[in-house]
Amino acid sequence: MKTLVIYYSLEGNTKFIAQKIAEGVGADILELKPKKETVKPHSLSKYFWGGKQVMTKEKPELLPFGYDPQDYDLLFIGTPVWAWNFTPPLGTFFSQVKLTGKKIALFCSCGGAKNNTLENMEAELAGNKIVGKIDFKEPLKNNQGECAEQAKRWAIEIISSL
Ligand SMILES: Cc1cc2nc3c(=O)[nH]c(=O)nc-3n(C[C@H](O)[C@H](O)[C@H](O)COP(=O)(O)O)c2cc1C
Repeated sequence: MKTLVIYYSLEGNTKFIAQKIAEGVGADILELKPKKETVKPHSLSKYFWGGKQVMTKEKPELLPFGYDPQDYDLLFIGTPVWAWNFTPPLGTFFSQVKLTGKKIALFCSCGGAKNNTLENMEAELAGNKIVGKIDFKEPLKNNQGECAEQAKRWAIEIISSL
């Protein structure tokens, strides 16, 4: 099954999980990168600028993709949680790429309050089959090894169940 992992990450937590999933199932990997990153990683201002982008539903322009998501049967899509929601680059992705009839598994990394992030992503992906959802709490800081194993196991179980 052709599988692609798509993610955005500001500080590396979501990237870490995305890489483990891709390693686990032998998938291609596509990082969503804003043309201009206006939120500075590891800064205090990141909460203000990132939160504002979510609240105003900004859709930052993304760098061109190296892979076409339409070529894949199964997509893993991941985001950090910002202001209890998915991040603006994912918003751009959902409006730019109209996916239908795909199998999609969703993941996120948060500080402990994901709220409806994964359900909000699911709502953007109507017309596809959601085959799994999982969240992680800042894996780079909390049990990195265990999170890596959990991510791999989760992805392998999804593929085996299809
Ligand atoms: C702008 C901003 C808003 C955030 N809002 C939330 C939130 O609402 N709930 C939460 O649990 N964590 C929140 N966080 C923490 C991140 O979700 C968490 O650190 C995540 O692991 C970051 O992923 P990354 O390293 O891939 O960027 C926020 C972080 C930023 C920068």
